[in-house]
Amino acid sequence: MTAKQRTRGSVTKAVVPAAGLGTRFLPATKAMPKEMLPIVDKPAIQYVVEEAAAAGLDDVLIITGRNKTNISNHFDSVPELELALERKGDEGKLGKVHEASEIAEVHLLRQGQPLGLGHAVGCARRHVGDESFAVLLGDDLIDARDPLLERMVAEHDARDATVIALMEVPPESIHLYGCAAVEPTDDPDVVKITGLVEKPEASEAPSNLAVIGRYVLRPEIFDIIDELEPGRGGEIQLTDALNHLAEGKGDGPVYGVVFRGRRYDTGDRADWIKANVLLGVDHPELGAEITDWLLGFADRLRAGRADD
Ligand code: UTP
Repeated sequence: MTAKQRTRGSVTKAVVPAAGLGTRFLPATKAMPKEMLPIVDKPAIQYVVEEAAAAGLDDVLIITGRNKTNISNHFDSVPELELALERKGDEGKLGKVHEASEIAEVHLLRQGQPLGLGHAVGCARRHVGDESFAVLLGDDLIDARDPLLERMVAEHDARDATVIALMEVPPESIHLYGCAAVEPTDDPDVVKITGLVEKPEASEAPSNLAVIGRYVLRPEIFDIIDELEPGRGGEIQLTDALNHLAEGKGDGPVYGVVFRGRRYDTGDRADWIKANVLLGVDHPELGAEITDWLLGFADRLRAGRADD
């Protein structure tokens, strides 16, 4: 797997956990990781690896679980397919096959058991070493038109701190997320995190700021994860490790960058469908056809003739 030459910043490694069970998307995820579900014509995880590479993080470690071969095959070369397309002289499709293996230097590591996101991140210790690194959840898609990771790395560098991504959500949705207790800073898009609560009821939520799947972590997180007891759901929770830091028990503070762009949780069925529609209408080859069809379909829906 080859990596394109890019300017190296302070953070060069990305970890992409993709070893969860994906139970919200059964039966599609019975034999396939949810991160491999396509969004238009690419698996979700390819967008995530592209996002890391676009932010200058071209060393990407994917943490895989059961069905790992689906993911490793996708980022590897496929000689039979390439040969068949070469024989046909189909350069366009050949380019699409090569694309995934040329985005970044992709490494894979198996998480033996799905013991939680914190545990998955802890598995990356040897690969990451004593450097800060980014974590991008493999089923959490940030629209490439609304870049976030570069901003988070810049805040990490400027404040010498752990940085997580937050998004404002309506009160009725906060119970689906980790929620941050925050203090303002001099920047309206950046808050200081004073505590994190995993999936609180709306009445107990300290804010409307939900934690979303992007983190820039300092290597001290590994020692904290090692000491964690299983938390919510019996899993080793990354939120618990971050809370330890937010409460001032680690070496440095935690800041949150408030993301105001487009983001899709592709492990959630409704969000997955929306992501396909939103990126479908924007697709260079398919956009016009899908937009026309959607407009007609919306008219028929309004007229109660959706089956026509
Ligand atoms: P989720 O909580 O969304 O994953 O984890 P899940 O457990 O697969 O989800 P459902 O509820 O059963 O559908 C967030 C991210 O952490 C990864 C997942 O793959 C996802 O990218 N993860 C989670 C791991 O890599 N290992 C784990 O043990 C747990």
